[in-house]
Amino acid sequence: MKNICVIGTGYVGLPTAACFADLGNRVVTVDIDEAKIAKLKQGQMPIYEPGLEELVERNVKAGRLFFTTSYEEGLQDAEFVFICVGTPSAVDGEADLKYVRAAAQTIAQTMTKPLIIVNKSTVPVGTGDWTAEIISKSQPTPIDFAVVSCPEFLREGSAIADFMQPDRTVLGSVNRQAAEAVAELYAPLKAPLVITDIRTAEMIKYASNAFLATKISFINEISIICERLGADVIEVARGMGFDKRIGDKFLQAGVGYGGSCFPKDVKALANMALTHGMHPQLLNAVMEINDFQRKQIVLKVRDMLGGSLEDKVIGVLGLAFKENTDDVRESPALTVVRSLLNQGAQVKAYDPMAMETASRELKGMILCESPYDVAEGIDALVILTPWNEFKQLNLARIRAAMRTPILVDGRNLYDPEAMRAAGFVYRGVGRGFHGEGKLPNGG
Ligand code: UDX
Repeated sequence: MKNICVIGTGYVGLPTAACFADLGNRVVTVDIDEAKIAKLKQGQMPIYEPGLEELVERNVKAGRLFFTTSYEEGLQDAEFVFICVGTPSAVDGEADLKYVRAAAQTIAQTMTKPLIIVNKSTVPVGTGDWTAEIISKSQPTPIDFAVVSCPEFLREGSAIADFMQPDRTVLGSVNRQAAEAVAELYAPLKAPLVITDIRTAEMIKYASNAFLATKISFINEISIICERLGADVIEVARGMGFDKRIGDKFLQAGVGYGGSCFPKDVKALANMALTHGMHPQLLNAVMEINDFQRKQIVLKVRDMLGGSLEDKVIGVLGLAFKENTDDVRESPALTVVRSLLNQGAQVKAYDPMAMETASRELKGMILCESPYDVAEGIDALVILTPWNEFKQLNLARIRAAMRTPILVDGRNLYDPEAMRAAGFVYRGVGRGFHGEGKLPNGG
């Protein structure tokens, strides 16, 4: 049993705290947001993450997991403090480090005994050294500390499984002993360990996310070529995926990647390269293709409706950036809805989890109770998030409710031929073999 303090109760902090507690540690979770902590104390989760509520409840009951707004309380017995605060994109694409800075300063001013400070937030290469400097400068009297970078690889929607069964644990520090002490915390997970210097650890995170984003943009570019040349991107990805050097993951063509990590991390890495005099050609292309995927969906709908969206009623299924989350940060669905609204369409939308979060970001949509409510009287239906409940819709009911049976499937959930047989005018992404041989702009 170790004493751990976790700063931040977001998508990274809360699963990290609950999982460390579940491994038998005593964990105090600190957040400066009083409302969030008050809710957590009453057993209400500030985010939706499958399995999280039960895990939190179990560990609170067992007396291993605590919540507070006070750094004093959090650091009182802590041997390790995990910084899990947000690092949003600043306007120029650089990561905004104001929350990391504030956390580091407060830790420095509050700590009363030696501490290992572990950074899990995704931060530009060099931030670990910068954090150490801030802490040294902000301490009223010098107390020993070490900074370790331990980038998170948790996916929203499967954060708990990702924590408990990681592919690897990466630890970077100038202080080998401190890195090994953190490694001990992760030892029960039995994952391969990479212990390295702090800058390399920080870079591993960016390079991993940028590579995954590249895989998605790659298959999306292939999907466009497939549409033109009469091939089916799903079969192409399947055929490629059996090659172990390629692998079958992250090869699903669609509306492009979104979320709190990929868009921000690719942009930040490109920005780091640029500010050091390099021209990040590949990363720029990855971002450009990703933007185009969102635009292409709108172009498809417009094309199928005869060239104009003015006064058309469009149904949207899915607002979250992916399934099993209420998160709409950088969600392709929001970009698509915004563009539909800007072009004069009315939008009726449904998402099983993300309607509240989406309506905070974007006004003007009509929110519906179910996919069948959405379908009522619409000119076209667009699928933007691959939620399970969209995979087996009652198609006859949907079709009967629609004014015109146009369906644009931005996540390739349905089989083009079956959809045509069911009476839909259907288009997926990259399904050229099924007669989708032309780009919507007539190219
Ligand atoms: C990601 C990383 O996977 C995780 O390791 C990191 O630490 C945080 O960022 P997350 O943002 O939760 O996790 O989502 P992920 O499941 O990776 O999906 C990212 C986006 O890519 C989603 O919008 C998803 O729909 C899209 N995607 C994913 C595709 O379009 N095609 C694919 O084949 C896979």
